[in-house]
Amino acid sequence: MRHLMNPLDFTVEELEGLFDLANDIENHPEKYAHACAGKKLATCFYEPSTRTRLSFEAAMLNLGGSVLGFSDANSSSASKGESVADTIRVVSCYADICAMRHPKEGAPMVAASKSRIPVINAGDGGHQHPTQTLTDLLTIRSLKHRLNNLTIGLCGDLKFGRTVHSLINALSRYEGIRFIFISPDELRIPDYVTEMLNEKGIPYEEVMSLEDVLPRLDILYMTRVQKERFFNEEDYIRLKDFYILDRKKMKLASPDMLILHPLPRVNEISVEVDDDPRAVYFKQAQYGVYVRMALILTLLGIHVD
Ligand code: NCD
Repeated sequence: MRHLMNPLDFTVEELEGLFDLANDIENHPEKYAHACAGKKLATCFYEPSTRTRLSFEAAMLNLGGSVLGFSDANSSSASKGESVADTIRVVSCYADICAMRHPKEGAPMVAASKSRIPVINAGDGGHQHPTQTLTDLLTIRSLKHRLNNLTIGLCGDLKFGRTVHSLINALSRYEGIRFIFISPDELRIPDYVTEMLNEKGIPYEEVMSLEDVLPRLDILYMTRVQKERFFNEEDYIRLKDFYILDRKKMKLASPDMLILHPLPRVNEISVEVDDDPRAVYFKQAQYGVYVRMALILTLLGIHVD
C-alpha cells in the first residue's frame, strides 16, 4: 500500500506516468467516469480549504466514486480529544482512501503509519503540500511542454508557504532549473531549503524586487502571505501587501511567462491581470482535478484501458 506525503515519494518517471494519465483524463473524461464505482474517498480536513477539498471530492465524483468526511476539526472527534492515529483507524473502516489536511507538520504521516488505506497529505502546516505540487507541475508541463530548463520566480511568503517548499523539492530533480526567490527579508525561504539546493548545486538567487527580475522569468509563482501562521497581527499587516502584481508590472515580463498561484489570492495579484493570457491560475485549478483523479486511480491500483 502506498501513501503520498511528499512529492518526492514518486520518482520522476512515476510522475511522468501520472501526468500522462492526467492528460488522458483531460482529453477522454468519459473513459474514467465509472472507474471508482463503489469506492469511497474520505476527506479529513482539520484546517480550512476550498480548492483542495472540493477538488478531491470533484475528482472522486468524476471517477464514479463517493465521498465522505469533515471540513473542520471542530465538527470531528478531534474536538473531543481523539488522536489522528485513532481517527484514521476508524476512517479505514469506512473508506478506501483518505485525503488529510492538518495544521501540524507531520500529522498525515502519523496517520499513514496507522492506516489500512492509502493516505494523501493534503497540506500539513507550513511543511508540504504534495498534491498542489502535482497540480503545479502538470500545469507547467501541459502549458510549457517541459519541466526542465526553466527559470522560476517564487514570490511572496516563502517562509510559511508549504506550496513553495513542496514545489522547490519537486523541481530540484529536473535539469536546468534556476530559482529566483522574491520576498521581504522577514519571509525569506528557510535555510533548510537553500541548504538542500546548495548540496545539489542548483542555482538560486534571493531578491526583494519583483520588477528587477520579472523580465528573466519563465514562470512566476505568486503566493499569499500566510496570515494563519503569523505570531502577531502587526507583522502580517505590514507585510501582506508587499507585492502586488498589476498590469503595469506585467509589461516587464516576457510574452510567454506563465503566472501560477495556488490560490486563494488576496491582494498579491490585481484582478486586472486575470484577463492576461499569461495568467493561468484558474486553469491550474482545473488541472488540479485531473491530477487528483490520476492520483486516486494510481494509489487504488485501478487501471483503465
Ligand atoms: C494553499 C495551501 O493551502 O497551502 N492553498 C491550496 O491548497 N490551494 C495556498 C494557501 O493557502 O495560500
